[in-house]
Amino acid sequence: MAQVLIAPSILSADFARLGEEVRAIEAAGADMVHVDVMDGHFVPNLTIGPMVVKALKPHAKTPLDVHLMIAPVDPYIQAFRDAGAAIITFHPEAGPHAHRTAQAIRASGAKVGASLNPGTSVSVLDDLLDDLDLVLVMSVNPGFGGQKFIDGALRKIETIRKRIDATGRDIILEVDGGVTAANAARIVSAGATALVAGTAVFGDGPEMYAANIAKLRGG
Ligand code: DX5
Ligand code: ZN
Repeated sequence: MAQVLIAPSILSADFARLGEEVRAIEAAGADMVHVDVMDGHFVPNLTIGPMVVKALKPHAKTPLDVHLMIAPVDPYIQAFRDAGAAIITFHPEAGPHAHRTAQAIRASGAKVGASLNPGTSVSVLDDLLDDLDLVLVMSVNPGFGGQKFIDGALRKIETIRKRIDATGRDIILEVDGGVTAANAARIVSAGATALVAGTAVFGDGPEMYAANIAKLRGG
C-alpha cells in the first residue's frame, strides 16, 4: 500500500512566519500544504484569502491543498487557482450547484476536491464522484483547529473507500480534523490515503515537526 500523504494544516502554524513554517514542514516531510480558508459565514471563523496563498506559493515545493470553507465558492475559484492552489476543495453544502462548482474548479486547471461535513451523507457523492480527484471527510465540524475526532467518521471513510474503489480511479481520500498519532492508523485502515493535521504537527514547535509527521505515518 502506498504511504499515506501528510498535509499539515497551516491553521495551526505561526501566522507571523507563514513562509518559514511552510518551508519547515516540507523539510520535515510534508507531502502537501493544507490551507484552510474560512469566511465567517459558512463557518464561524475567518482566516485567509487568495493574497496569502499567493504570498505562500514561492515558499512551497509541494502542492497547495486549498480547503475552501466559504459560501459562495464560484466567484473565488479562479483567484485561488491564480494564487497557486494545486487542489481546490469545496463543500457541497455551501451552495445549490455542487456540480457546477466542480466543473468550474476543473476548468480553472486545479484538481477538484469535495468535502463532507460530519452531518452530511455520503450520498452527496452519488452524482459528483466521477468529477472529483479528492474527497475530504471532515472528522470535526469545520471552523477551528484542535477539536476532538468524531469517531463516526471512520464508518464514513470505509463507505467512501468502497465507492472510490468501485470507480477504479485514483481519487485521494483525505481526512481532516482531530487527527493524531493515536488515531492515524485507524483512519488509514478505514481507507484514508491522506491525513490533514494541524495541532498534531505544529503543536510542539518546529524541532518536533519531523517527528510529528513520522508518527502520523506510523513511524
Ligand atoms: C478545521 C480545518 C482543519 C483544522 C485541523 O475546520 O479544516 O484543517 O485546521 O486542525 P486539527 O488537526 O488541529 O484538528
Ligand atoms: Zn481543512
